[in-house]
Amino acid sequence: METGGPLTWGWPHLYCAETSTREFVKKSATHPPVSRGGRFGKATAAVVSRFSESISFDWRLWRQDLVGSMVHATMLKRIGILKAAELREIVRGLDEIGREIGSGRFVWKPEFEDVHMNIEAELTRRVPAGAKLHTGRSRNDQVALDIRLWLRQELVEIAGRVGGLQRALVDLGERYREVLIPGYTHLQRAQPVYLAHHLLAYVEMLDRDGARLQDCFRRVNVCPLGSGALAGSTLPLDREFVARKLGFVDARGRPQLSQNSMDAVSDRDFAVEFGAVAALLAVHLSRLAEDLILWASSEFNFIRIDDAYTTGSSLMPQKRNPDVAELTRGKSARVIGNLVALLTLLKGLPMTYNRDLQEDKERLFDSVDTVRDCLELMAGMLAGTTVNEPVCESAAADPNLLATDLADYLVLKGVPFRAAHHAVGAAVTLAEKLGVALDGLSLADLQGINPQFDAAVSGVFDLKRAMARRRSVGSPGAGEVRRQLARWRRTLGLGGRSGR
Ligand code: ARG
Repeated sequence: METGGPLTWGWPHLYCAETSTREFVKKSATHPPVSRGGRFGKATAAVVSRFSESISFDWRLWRQDLVGSMVHATMLKRIGILKAAELREIVRGLDEIGREIGSGRFVWKPEFEDVHMNIEAELTRRVPAGAKLHTGRSRNDQVALDIRLWLRQELVEIAGRVGGLQRALVDLGERYREVLIPGYTHLQRAQPVYLAHHLLAYVEMLDRDGARLQDCFRRVNVCPLGSGALAGSTLPLDREFVARKLGFVDARGRPQLSQNSMDAVSDRDFAVEFGAVAALLAVHLSRLAEDLILWASSEFNFIRIDDAYTTGSSLMPQKRNPDVAELTRGKSARVIGNLVALLTLLKGLPMTYNRDLQEDKERLFDSVDTVRDCLELMAGMLAGTTVNEPVCESAAADPNLLATDLADYLVLKGVPFRAAHHAVGAAVTLAEKLGVALDGLSLADLQGINPQFDAAVSGVFDLKRAMARRRSVGSPGAGEVRRQLARWRRTLGLGGRSGR
């Protein structure tokens, strides 16, 4: 994925230690209401401050806010609004604040509402030039910028984890590449497939999720700064410069600027789009989780999930519960909910910025955190999963799974498929009546149903040969599955076969 360049271009490295929420609460002891100056006669009531603050969650945008401010200030110097010394003061001040936030020493103040005001107010308290930083900028374009910068990085991170889960799936398939299991429709045994084929189905889904993340990235990667509150600025802002420095460029290095100031401050399409991509990804994970839960049950007993990824029961000593898979399945609910919340948030909002938009962040953060964690945990769980080969083998050996092969055998003898389907249906009924498996019927029994059956029919039930006959692209045949495993190993950079 093209990341559009480093976020911290040319700036002192911003320290990364996170301030935990608990620390945040501890540090942000309740403050008396502060006057907002200007035209406001009264201070905001404490209850209103509490209701409207976003610092308790948007502090996460601090790095993006600092970098955005540094680049904005640099641009202001270029267009002659800041002096070189003022720019130096501002950058030094912001860098200092960054170090303090990174090490957990910075005190966030809820009375300053959000991450933008906290940082700017603290900067201005420390350096007089701080009062010039907000020139030609509004929190409306600032917050849009910060979220875009933040999400851009998270998209790269999530896409990497999608790749990690794909690798874990391919690896498991490769470790057990000879293992066959029944494939199911309606959760009824249907036809035999290689376990690897089943796992590769998820690799394909995840591949499309990855492509959707990449596509979403293109639309997130657009710079809104310079749009002001809604109507741009009378100042000669150099938007291209800002976009380039913040890495808002396309694959050919051309700056990506929002083209309408009103759209830029009110648009959260990109968040909805990510929410939708995340929801579908979470749904895919929930299906994988469900398969693993089923396979780990005593009824299936196809796999054993590593102890580290299961829990015991407080009551029943024998239990090994697949909680990680269950929670992954369950957490898809909140990711879907977040998408619906984002859509509902935007529905019917008048142009342009409305405070409602502040509600976007927790939904967005939650979807990012949830899919990131689920991807990581599922990959870890698969790495330690072992397959119960004898159980899979005996389940896949059910001759009824080859009933369709038996019909195909008649088709190759010229019997119309509908007639062949009917004949095999009659054979299944007869076998049930006689209490034998489908391959237990005598040639005479079969010929009694359709005279086209001959001695070669027994070959239909040789499972290895049956799997070799499935040759078309995308089929679960031995050769094709081997080819697909090799293709994915190459695509995912897994090198040669892992083997066992
Ligand atoms: N905390 C606000 C948000 O998340 C930032 C923008 C505030 N703008 C305003 N005009 N009050 O949306």
